[in-house]
Amino acid sequence: MTVRFADHLKDIPDYIPGKPMEELERELGVTEALKMASNENFMGPPPKVMVAISEKIRSLNLYPDSGCFLLRNGLGKKWGVQPDQVIVGNGSNYLIELIARCVLNPGAEGITCDPSFLFYRRAIKGAMGIHQSIPLRSFEVDIEDLLNGVSDRTRLILLASPNNPTGRPISFSKLTRLMARLDPGVLVVLDEAYFDFIRSPEVRSGLELLKDHPNLIVLKTFSKYYSLAGLRIGYGIAHTDIIKALMKLYLPFNVGTLAQAAALAFLEEEEPLSEARRINEEGKEYLYRELRSLGLEFVPTEANFILVRVGKATQVYEGLLKRGIIVRDMTPWKLPGHIRVTISLPENNQRFMKELRDIMEGIWKRPVPVLGR
Ligand SMILES: Cc1ncc(COP(=O)(O)O)c(C=O)c1O
Repeated sequence: MTVRFADHLKDIPDYIPGKPMEELERELGVTEALKMASNENFMGPPPKVMVAISEKIRSLNLYPDSGCFLLRNGLGKKWGVQPDQVIVGNGSNYLIELIARCVLNPGAEGITCDPSFLFYRRAIKGAMGIHQSIPLRSFEVDIEDLLNGVSDRTRLILLASPNNPTGRPISFSKLTRLMARLDPGVLVVLDEAYFDFIRSPEVRSGLELLKDHPNLIVLKTFSKYYSLAGLRIGYGIAHTDIIKALMKLYLPFNVGTLAQAAALAFLEEEEPLSEARRINEEGKEYLYRELRSLGLEFVPTEANFILVRVGKATQVYEGLLKRGIIVRDMTPWKLPGHIRVTISLPENNQRFMKELRDIMEGIWKRPVPVLGR
């Protein structure tokens, strides 16, 4: 007899976690493999945050504060909202999944504008919802298309600004238009995981719309700009009624003591990270110049990664992998011909470009001019 799993699992692709770097290096026979695939911050947390983490180690025998009391207070102060408008989770991924479970019924629809973060559809399907995909137009969210896709069955819309994998943000005027015209019974999740990297003045946070729109939740994370991906901590800000509903299925103690301590320390430590933004900007300009010199198209980004059209994406991905550089092949995201690369430190960006140039020469069977020579 075989176990009878939930029917909706059939519609969810297998999850295959990436291999740890040590194992990859062993398999590939390379040292110093370079991961440019998960949009992490390459700088690491500032010393004050590391000290705050180490000071909490001796209390690891105790459960964490399940209500994240101090952190919700601190975040409330930072954003000018009440602490009970804040929910903290084990990464914003946990919150995305929690929201889907709290909002969707079997057969209810969740919408994404694609290509977008693949986890969204998994959360919708995992909550027994029906996933509806609205295609992006020229890599941008189209509000008319999105509104036309809303039906009586729609309960949830998941949007990222900037979007992963395109790096394109949603302008404030588009957001305002969406919220003004949408059925207020539909919850909009605005995922601002990469918001701190944005430079465009046309983009403003969805937090500004919260007062007028109780059907909006804005998600933030400490994983990207704040360099704490390994600790797993993110948060959401919304109307208190939304937070109250989400708390019904909230997994107790899901945010660890060290994660809470690190995030709290960050609230007192904003400035050192402006360096991360500067390095990202410089890295972006360098990669733009180099990619242009190769004649490769890319989508201008407002995040810490770039979507690049390389043609034979799987071949390029595998070629880079053999040379110890891990990027993302976008073929499974229904973006054939594209890779996504995280903007890194200058030496890493240079190593990536050197290998990419070499691989492209091999594919095109012609030498490629080198910038500055
Ligand atoms: C758009 C988007 N949202 C959320 C996440 C996950 O964030 P967290 O580490 O907080 O779970 C990612 C990670 O890649 C992402 O790209």
